[in-house]
Amino acid sequence: MARRSLSGVQPSGLLHLGNYFGAIRTHVARQDDAYYFIADFHALTTTHDPAVLRQNVFDVAATYLALGLDPERAVLWRQSDVPEVQELAWLLATVTGMGLLERAHSYKDKVERGISASVGLFYYPVLMAADILAFDSDVVPVGKDQVQHLEMTRDMAQSFNARYGEVFKLPKVELGVPEPVPGIDGAKMSKSYDNHIPIFPASRKALKKRVMAIKTDSTPMEDPKDPDTCTVFALYALFADAAQQAEMRAKYAGGDYGYGHAKLELLELIEAHFADARTRYAEFEKHPDRVEEILRAGAERARPVARAVLDRARAACGLA
Ligand code: ADP
Ligand code: TRP
Repeated sequence: MARRSLSGVQPSGLLHLGNYFGAIRTHVARQDDAYYFIADFHALTTTHDPAVLRQNVFDVAATYLALGLDPERAVLWRQSDVPEVQELAWLLATVTGMGLLERAHSYKDKVERGISASVGLFYYPVLMAADILAFDSDVVPVGKDQVQHLEMTRDMAQSFNARYGEVFKLPKVELGVPEPVPGIDGAKMSKSYDNHIPIFPASRKALKKRVMAIKTDSTPMEDPKDPDTCTVFALYALFADAAQQAEMRAKYAGGDYGYGHAKLELLELIEAHFADARTRYAEFEKHPDRVEEILRAGAERARPVARAVLDRARAACGLA
């Protein structure tokens, strides 16, 4: 049975390796019956400079396209170009208990980090549920931190279905990697912790600086080292094939191999992995109009799908 994938990424700063392995890589791998959008409505909860928002939307779109998203196959659009999701969010809000939203970790974390507790930030999971349900999605590829949002989406869909009949499909989450990708300090990679490694750094020098800054323990160079507790190895393993991983494990176990050496090998793999994509990214930077055209065309394909689901939901609850 065909499975429709859908996901969204917020345009809130440059994308990093955590975003890549947690979500984007899966999106690029699944392009049949696939819907991906740039969550600019969501970004308004944290990004308040219009020029920055516009630039971030472009960066996300160009990143996807450079990494191989084919807009003829998968649908790629800007969330705000499909306003139907807002209307659907309202319908969902009317079946959603306050308690459900009050339990959201993401909301609590953001408020703790000093982001203003706006109604929009609180309502964020309702809009996210609408994004997902508006497309009859089967699978939602995201990172682990989004799992609770998916559970909330299923809750809202079930509440609506219980009240009005079977209107919504219940989507499933799909994790790109089982555990969060670590950042250079060993904690979860996130742009909010400034521990990230960008997918498209400004230069090789900038990338090298980040990689060389990965925190390691103080095992002396000549001693054997444990790859399974090392952030350098964890990142290396994401890029390396089985043979390369086995080789690096042997080097760690053998001693006389420093973390500096491992970092340089990691640097090479990152460079090689994104080399072609970087060239394509530079091309899109020269032609922002092409990116804009792709997003507009994507919205034209996305809108009728969301419209049909919205009409189904409106009819079910007695709206004309
Ligand atoms: P950030 O934490 O940098 O703000 P986002 O919350 O915008 O990242 O995440 C965008 C997508 O990337 C989500 O699907 C999220 O689950 C995934 N993601 C973010 N950081 C990681 C990570 N360190 N490991 C795995 N997936 C991640
Ligand atoms: N909340 C997601 C994030 O921070 C972005 C998002 C918005 C999303 N709507 C979505 C992800 C719908 C998947 C499906 O990464």
